[in-house]
Amino acid sequence: MTEGGDWQRDVLRELADTPAAPASTSPPMPPAPVDPRLPSPPPQPASPTRPVPRGTRDPRLPLTTPESVPTVDPRLAHALGRPQHGDSLTQRTGRSLRRLTTSAGQDVAEQTHLATELQRPVTTGRIIAVTSIRGGVGKSTVSALLGRTFNHYRHDPVLTLEADAALGTLPVRMGAESVRWSCADLAQILTPAMQLTDVTGYLVPVADGGWLLPAGQGRVGAPMDVRTYRTVTLALRRYFAVTVVDCESLPGDVARTAMDTAHARVVVAPMTAEGVNGTRQVLNWLAQLPHAALASTAVALSASSPDTTLDEKTAAAHLREAGVAVVSLPYDRHLAQGGPIHTVMLGQATRDAAVRLAAEAMHRAVRVR
Ligand SMILES: Nc1ncnc2c1ncn2[C@@H]1O[C@H](COP(=O)(O)OP(=O)(O)OP(=O)(O)O)[C@@H](O)[C@H]1O
Ligand SMILES: [Mg+2]
Repeated sequence: MTEGGDWQRDVLRELADTPAAPASTSPPMPPAPVDPRLPSPPPQPASPTRPVPRGTRDPRLPLTTPESVPTVDPRLAHALGRPQHGDSLTQRTGRSLRRLTTSAGQDVAEQTHLATELQRPVTTGRIIAVTSIRGGVGKSTVSALLGRTFNHYRHDPVLTLEADAALGTLPVRMGAESVRWSCADLAQILTPAMQLTDVTGYLVPVADGGWLLPAGQGRVGAPMDVRTYRTVTLALRRYFAVTVVDCESLPGDVARTAMDTAHARVVVAPMTAEGVNGTRQVLNWLAQLPHAALASTAVALSASSPDTTLDEKTAAAHLREAGVAVVSLPYDRHLAQGGPIHTVMLGQATRDAAVRLAAEAMHRAVRVR
């Protein structure tokens, strides 16, 4: 792989020269050479094979293919209901009418600016870590929105990576029906000799494009530690222009490491007084990190309830005071439903917020360091 700006061309050429990865969520296992002295591994389900990347692993170690596990129990999957649109029919109709009657000049300039930020060329893969002060405030939702947005705007490979062992929801939000290989598996498998096409064989292809690497198979106690995180992110940034990391909540060790080592950070703050207050404490902690961590941080102020009463402008101003960019993510019926995120079903304000947040994060990921 060449240095500097050419690495992306190499990666793209490699993709173009190779038939597209099968649109399956269960990538086949590269067959490991078998050492007759070792006990034979348990029988594997029949699956097509792909060539073993040369020099990828110690052939004396048995490699068992993890089973493919559905992200949602099939008995529940059909109970999900139909996806709701984030905007009501009245809102959608009103917007179409407004579009016909107002000048679009300013809109176009703004869209062009955002697209330029999102498409910024990178010389080495950028890592954008998403976390929050506590659980359940929208980290996985924001990560999924960012991953999809980057993928929509960029032509180079984008990865969304789950670094949260606590039965995370990222695979479901990204629309993965099943998962097989996890971060812990890849930490053992990845070697510098691997090509992008070898690596993507272990990832989940996302329906709209891009790739997903889950933290585990949705079981209690899945392994995810700082070492695994560092090994996997360091190895994968060779292949992906942007990696969005859905971290556990602070102050978990993996979240702290991710925040410390990422090129840009997104802190998700719930739109409540205590949520904003706690997030301000996180920002104060970031300010103490050695390498301009605050300057490369954006906050997503997320309203995951339609009943929030906190004044958005006051909350945003309180966070901006710390020296970060703040983007408000409105309450969205489609996001509130849970389940896979369908971009076309998002409210217009949600889509706009996702684009603005992704642009802020990318701007920081490229500019800083
Ligand atoms: N902007 C939003 N509008 C409406 N609902 C939202 C929004 N963001 C998040 N939610 C709701 O909040 C729930 C929790 O979000 P999410 O799973 O992304 O949080 P999390 O911080 O990743 O949680 P955990 O700490 O458990 O990983 C979602 O299932 C969704 O219902
Ligand atoms: Mg989550």
